[in-house]
Amino acid sequence: MLEADGLTKEFSSPTGTVTALRNVSFSAEPGEFLAVRGPSGCGKTTLMMILGALQRPTSGKLRIEGQDPYQLAPEARSRFRAERIGFVFQEFYLVPYLSVLENILAPSLAKAHPDPPGRARALIERFHLQDRLTHVPSALSTGERQRVALARALFHQPKLLLADEPTGNLDPENAEIVLTYLADFAHSGGTVLMVTHHADAAGYAKHILEMEQGAVVSTAAPQG
Ligand SMILES: Nc1ncnc2c1ncn2[C@@H]1O[C@H](COP(=O)(O)OP(=O)(O)OP(=O)(O)O)[C@@H](O)[C@H]1O
Ligand SMILES: [Mg+2]
Repeated sequence: MLEADGLTKEFSSPTGTVTALRNVSFSAEPGEFLAVRGPSGCGKTTLMMILGALQRPTSGKLRIEGQDPYQLAPEARSRFRAERIGFVFQEFYLVPYLSVLENILAPSLAKAHPDPPGRARALIERFHLQDRLTHVPSALSTGERQRVALARALFHQPKLLLADEPTGNLDPENAEIVLTYLADFAHSGGTVLMVTHHADAAGYAKHILEMEQGAVVSTAAPQG
């Protein structure tokens, strides 16, 4: 499903070159739920952006379902993303002038779905957003915005879900709803990579990628 081979990302900055990602290799099968952990600045978001076909690596190879999205022309790469990948950004990136319902429905513009309102409604109920449908993001709490971002990422039924701290702003009850959903998503054959700092969030995942200074330093099964 997902194969990362020697992914490296360098950024140039006024003080020199920053190596945000160093030679990261791993693979994930359909149905696998991986957590990514490590201190701030270790390269977690950079890794997610590269895996999400959003940021080209400086070197290394990525394959998603056997295809390297960076070998596609920009338009084909966007289509590839729209069809296969769901992404929950650390900063959410909701469209500020669209309502909750419209934000969740936005991906249906890229991929026709047989019953967009029905599918949106199921996600809305699952994530307890039914009383917020007409609100714009600025009228939502951070945790509500986070759940809208997740519903939007799941709307088009991606094969691969990349979630950067999807429970970071949630109370324990909502965190559990989200984690259970992600575990179900993996159970039904999806692949999930989730950045998290929460020990119990990592407990839902089958494997943990521990990162340090841009490198994956260990891959462990969660404790307990
Ligand atoms: N566009 C950029 N230009 C220059 N440096 C960058 C850029 N994006 C990230 N970096 C640097 O790369 C390193 C990794 O950043 P990244 O955002 O991937 O960390 P992170 O593990 O997600 O951190 P956090 O837990 O705080 O979200 C950091 O040192 C960061 O300053
Ligand atoms: Mg980050």
